[in-house]
Amino acid sequence: MLILGIETSCDETGVALYDTDAGLVAESLYSQVDLHARYGGVVPELASRDHIQKISPLLTELLDRAERRLADLDGVAFTAGPGLVGALLVGATVGRSLAYGLGIPAIGVHHMEAHLLAPLIGVDDLEPPFAALLVSGGHSQIVRVDGVGRYTMLGESLDDAAGEAFDKTAKMLGLSYPGGPAIARAAESGNPGRFRFPRPMTDRPGLDMSFSGLKTSTLNTVREHSPLDEQDTADIARAFEDAVVETLVIKCKRTVAATGLEDFVIAGGVAANRRLRARLAEELPRTIYAPPALCTDNGAMIAYAGALRLAAGERDDLAIKTRARWPMDELDGLVG
Ligand code: KG4
Ligand code: ZN
Repeated sequence: MLILGIETSCDETGVALYDTDAGLVAESLYSQVDLHARYGGVVPELASRDHIQKISPLLTELLDRAERRLADLDGVAFTAGPGLVGALLVGATVGRSLAYGLGIPAIGVHHMEAHLLAPLIGVDDLEPPFAALLVSGGHSQIVRVDGVGRYTMLGESLDDAAGEAFDKTAKMLGLSYPGGPAIARAAESGNPGRFRFPRPMTDRPGLDMSFSGLKTSTLNTVREHSPLDEQDTADIARAFEDAVVETLVIKCKRTVAATGLEDFVIAGGVAANRRLRARLAEELPRTIYAPPALCTDNGAMIAYAGALRLAAGERDDLAIKTRARWPMDELDGLVG
């Protein structure tokens, strides 16, 4: 089956073709980063309007490059939630209508499930059960995975998501949006010993996380040392990155110890962080992660997650449905 995947939940328009026999055929991504950069974060209305403008040309370009036509498609998958409701509606409307016009099935995909499954694209030897850390701009979750759609929440952030903490801290430091890559870049020339920020919620048992206190510690340090020169910024960025990375590594090790599951998956935008990947490779060598481009938002993960469900016979009805909030443990397991 050849499945078209469409992602428009936030500030990336992503489209991809996934073949259930041949794997990932092609993908295209348009990032709205430049559009939102001057506001220091995503402006939902601008995001929706830009998705509307970009989605059709992106689709045409994808099909041309892959030398396929709309008539070759066997199904359409689109992100149905969670995300910005106006942005989601663009992909959902295009995806659902296209499928209706072509007389093929459509399926609304859960964005975080797609992140979670992305590291499995092209990987055949990972069988559930396994544990996963999902760290994106909107979510930080630790999940037990017993199969597609069979997720048990083991821990989550009680306040900011890890990516959100990166974004807010970058803003405090006068760094660009999105904050994760900007902090990682600045931290490269940072002195690791100059500042030390807390590793929140690591001194008590459990897998829940919290990042808002860390943000406050960073803000206090920024105020104490303002105006910051380039080295101050780099040193604070390094201390912040180390604090988030070490906190996540502690939680991941604790998850493996608590569940007895050795295979561990990390996914979502923050999983693109090089220091996090390097530390997990040292501490939990069986960690599996997608290439950085498949960690941040993309159409390939939507095509893949949708393909698994469509191949199992799942289909949406004709209504165009999106959900801004959608707890992942409300999903149904894959039939069969
Ligand atoms: O998964 P994603 O692309 O979108 C959401 O579903 O939210 O994640 C975006 C988040 C942003 O907060 C961004 O700052 C963060 O992932 N991020 C990173 C890195 N690349 C993206 N955080 C740390 N290090 C990175 N290299
Ligand atoms: Zn995402």
